[in-house]
Amino acid sequence: MNWLKEQSLEDQEIQNNLLATCKIPKHIGIIMDGNGRWALERGLSRTEGHKQGIESVRDIVKASAQLKIGYLTLYAFSIENWNRPLTEVGILMKLLEHYLKSEIDEIDENNIRLYSIGKLSSLPKKVQRLLFEAVERTAKNTGLTLTLALSYSGRWDIVRAVQMLVHDVRRSKLAPEDITEETFSSYLQTNILPDPDLIIRTSGEMRLSNFLLWESAYSEIYISNKYWPEFRRTDLYEAIIDYSRRERRFGRTSEQVVSQSKTIEFQSEKSLNTR
Ligand code: FPP
Repeated sequence: MNWLKEQSLEDQEIQNNLLATCKIPKHIGIIMDGNGRWALERGLSRTEGHKQGIESVRDIVKASAQLKIGYLTLYAFSIENWNRPLTEVGILMKLLEHYLKSEIDEIDENNIRLYSIGKLSSLPKKVQRLLFEAVERTAKNTGLTLTLALSYSGRWDIVRAVQMLVHDVRRSKLAPEDITEETFSSYLQTNILPDPDLIIRTSGEMRLSNFLLWESAYSEIYISNKYWPEFRRTDLYEAIIDYSRRERRFGRTSEQVVSQSKTIEFQSEKSLNTR
């Protein structure tokens, strides 16, 4: 199903309005949190919470693709999550397997490029295979890059990058004095992604929980009080509106930011007038 065709007129109008009036982040990262609490508060099992969480994944992926957001990274399973009870881990892996099997056709049809980061060798073989097939099948797609962070942790990726870097220094492929922030970033698994502009966390918790630690140096953080299973596209729109109102200074003063954006505005008006 083509996602642009199934969109309601009302939602299209809301999105058009967002596109016309807001700065749309190029890369959004989401820490999906609160599946368990959502379920327990309703007298349901945690599994039901995770199942409902997948409905939110579906809606947010679609809305992001429709809004032509470049990159969406979902923190689906951390390295620390392996410490959960075995039965819950098993259920999460089954749900992931089901998601990959049932969504891949639609993901591909809608020009989504699937990518994944994390210690993938720890995942069950079946999930690894489905993941590699999906990544390979969608590698040439040019729409939204949907990254699933699975068995991922920011510190793990940083340590892994350091190990590879030291290896290259030892083999004289790299001189220590040539190591810059850019060189270091290129060793991270996220090297094909721009740094996230906006990181959303659901369920009111205010932590990064080992998500994109290096990459989030200048990310704007948005905390939603909703649990992940109830976080849907209208909540994403609210987060984008909030992000759009923020002034991103990257260490500069507010005056510098304002004067630079005026120069850019002036230059783009000038180029429009000379066309
Ligand atoms: C956090 O809720 C959620 C997770 C650890 C798993 C997220 C997984 C999904 C939404 C389903 C599978 C994902 C994909 C991409 C298909 P929690 O269990 O930590 O909630 P709690 O803090 O209330 O206990």
